[in-house]
Amino acid sequence: MEVKRAKITAVGHYLPEERLTNHDLEKMVDTNDEWIRTRTGIEERRVMKDPDKATAFMGSEAAKELLDQRGINASEIDLIILATVTPDYMFPATACLVQKEIGATNAFAFDLSAACSGFLYALSTGAMYIESGRAQKVLVIGTDKMSSIMDFTDRTTCILFGDGAGAVLLEESDDGTGIIDQKHYTEGDTNCSLYQPGGGSRNPATKETVENGLHHLKQDGKAVFKKATMGMADVSLEIMKRNDLDPDDVAWLVPHQANLRIIDATARRMGLSSEKVMINIDKYGNTTAATIPLCLYDWKDKLNHGDNIVLAAFGGGFTWGAIYLTWGINNE
Ligand code: UT7
Repeated sequence: MEVKRAKITAVGHYLPEERLTNHDLEKMVDTNDEWIRTRTGIEERRVMKDPDKATAFMGSEAAKELLDQRGINASEIDLIILATVTPDYMFPATACLVQKEIGATNAFAFDLSAACSGFLYALSTGAMYIESGRAQKVLVIGTDKMSSIMDFTDRTTCILFGDGAGAVLLEESDDGTGIIDQKHYTEGDTNCSLYQPGGGSRNPATKETVENGLHHLKQDGKAVFKKATMGMADVSLEIMKRNDLDPDDVAWLVPHQANLRIIDATARRMGLSSEKVMINIDKYGNTTAATIPLCLYDWKDKLNHGDNIVLAAFGGGFTWGAIYLTWGINNE
């Protein structure tokens, strides 16, 4: 079978309007703006306040913007892959809700769970459907309503996360640009350094699990920080080396936005100066599966056709990885 190349042909996004600033959090938990800025780089994050709107809504809005931008009808989509850790329901998949909402009548749709690496895993999976010729238009969405699993009395986690969604369209490349290489890792974290203990089959929801807050995200920040710093930097360097990329060759690093210190360490290891690094953690915090497509959206007008771009992420699981692509959208 002839191997094709997949490229990103459109980008969409959605962010709730409501802002939760560090100063707002000072009134909720024992924290302060200075601590949050210096330890994480975050200044504010977005929060979906409307209880009737959740992960599927945000993903659908991002998809609608993307379809509009590309000028195609939802019925042309063959496949929807949606990365999230905050699905609307345990089942059915949130991707199915998005499929209905946007009218993607010819698409099959599934969720992919890889925490903060979810978007990268989904992008690689989607690319393979294009490369094999089994799909022509694949919608890849990263969407998370992290506020729905936050414990707003736990200062070690509630300051970190935000809500949002980003989406990209993958199509066959006609000009050689697109997804060139990907490397992903998994290391089962039996210590549960980053997880949501309750609500699954291990601890089904009961009065006790709710009283004990098991439905909230728990994190051993230090343990995750150590693994994330090493994992993201190592895999980013690995993908550069195996594609013979020097720092001068790389136009942009698009890092998962979990902590500015992790991002800086990754850029340093790659030998990149800070102006080549997409950073919007100050505005949105960690939106889990949405961080990377939200960066691509924010920077899309600055990207040039053919730019060498490295995407990198680390997340719960543990999961991590990097993708090397060349930008395929013409800005003119
Ligand atoms: O996206 C998925 C992957 N996730 C990540 O990559 C997150 C990785 N972890 C981190 O980003 C960092 O570990 C945190 C930002 C979560 C924490 O930063 P840290 O530099 O590792 O701080 P720490 O946990 O060592 O805490 C230092 C001190 C502690 O006080 P003591 O024990 O030294 O007295 C904490 O209790 O800071 C305290 N602290 C806070 N103080 C003010 C913890 N959270 C806060 C807070 N405000 N919000």
